[in-house]
Amino acid sequence: MNVLDSELVLGQLRAHGYESVADRDRADVILYNTCSVREHAEQKVWSRLGELRDRKKADPSLVIGVIGCMAERDGPSLFHRFPEVDLLCGPGELDKLVGLVHNAAISNGPRKSARQVALMGAAVRRSSTLAAAEDHLELLDLSRSISPGDDFSQAYVRITRGCNKFCTYCVVPFTRGPEVHRPPQNIIDEVRRLADAGAKEVTLLGQTINHYAFVHGDGRTTTFAELLYAIHEAVPHLPRLRFVTSFPRDFTDEALAAMRDCERICRYLHVPAQSGSDRILKAMNRGYTVGMYRDFLQRAREAMPDICIASDFIVGFPSETEEDFQQTAQLVRDCRFKNSFIFKYSPRPGTVAIDRFADDVPDEAKRRRNGELLAVQQQVSVESNRQMIGKTVEVMVQGESKLVSRQSTYPASKVELGWEQRGAMNERTTQMIGRTRGDLVVCFDGEQSLKGQILDVEITDARNLTLFGRAVVTAGVE
Ligand code: 5AD
Ligand code: SF4
Repeated sequence: MNVLDSELVLGQLRAHGYESVADRDRADVILYNTCSVREHAEQKVWSRLGELRDRKKADPSLVIGVIGCMAERDGPSLFHRFPEVDLLCGPGELDKLVGLVHNAAISNGPRKSARQVALMGAAVRRSSTLAAAEDHLELLDLSRSISPGDDFSQAYVRITRGCNKFCTYCVVPFTRGPEVHRPPQNIIDEVRRLADAGAKEVTLLGQTINHYAFVHGDGRTTTFAELLYAIHEAVPHLPRLRFVTSFPRDFTDEALAAMRDCERICRYLHVPAQSGSDRILKAMNRGYTVGMYRDFLQRAREAMPDICIASDFIVGFPSETEEDFQQTAQLVRDCRFKNSFIFKYSPRPGTVAIDRFADDVPDEAKRRRNGELLAVQQQVSVESNRQMIGKTVEVMVQGESKLVSRQSTYPASKVELGWEQRGAMNERTTQMIGRTRGDLVVCFDGEQSLKGQILDVEITDARNLTLFGRAVVTAGVE
């Protein structure tokens, strides 16, 4: 979501005459688009801002902005800690960012009447009417500039903003505000424009994307399943359509059927389970049991036996016992996830969990559980990846692979060992990297010009994170 926001903001700034520079030291305006989901992400921003202190002292005309969730969460208190920051803009106000940047640039200029400006609004929108929540932000998404020649092989399109789930550990409902669904026609138009410009793969975005349901003026509703069918039909020249992130409870059979029926919708789901313990799921306010989660995966796999499923887990949630954790490990073993993103619980100010529960799992235990769960997942991944050896898969080429594993260890070592930099094999052929329809990472030797193309690769080796293969050369092509 942040990648898309950055892209849209950059597009707006460019449209107003700003240019991006590769080197931070040469920039007149520096904006950090921030994430508040875990404390670690915020600490990284603090240290980046610290690095700018001396430069701002030497050059007060430098404009420094913090945008996104930290701006929303910290608000003007951020100015006290970092007086060097000129502007703050929450994720719900990004359509006004250009004006803020412009204003800061002018007031930091010769007249030196520097004034710090903060724009936030998610909380306000939540407390007012739904109409107020269906905000001007649509303008930001609609402003997307698509020029021929841009690298649009992969693109994101938002379908919902915000979240209403209020999982007890999570800042998102506070920083991104209430759930708002975009009109289907705007989504379809955006996907079509991207496909027209050459996009090969569009990823639809939403915090709980399968909860999408747009109510039209006449009371009719477009469901998530209907939206998928509609995009698939309206944009036949888009080879791949995928979506993240799904919420386990809201998946209808109709949505699964849409995935099954539409051949260009990728057989990939990211459905965070968060824990394998019913007691912890309840404390997290996730609204489902482990049994319900397992049932959902079974339904998904019955509809599409080849579907790849990824999950998220939080270890060390308040009061999590060793037994709770072992239930999580068992869930990972049983569910055969393609991969899992595993996080140590991070208490976030403003959430229910920080008020209601003590952060009582020692960091050492969090770290150990994190490592253990990762090892379980790696074992699962390597086993399922090895089953791919000998098969031919369709790969969308993302670009050159910077890192190549030289080790061929099986069973999987704890981490994917032995990554090392490798130079180009010759001027044109190098190690390329891409993704299957199920989001598996594939490395193969190929030419850089393959970037953005979709081709068949025969899998010859597999590790926990990566498949290795050779491009299948079709007859008549050298
Ligand atoms: N601490 C740790 N992990 C978190 N996540 C969300 N909030 C927290 C938190 N406070 C994780 C969840 C979510 C992913 C995006 O980040 O697993 O799915
Ligand atoms: Fe956060 Fe829960 Fe919403 Fe996901 S569903 S964004 S974890 S509140």
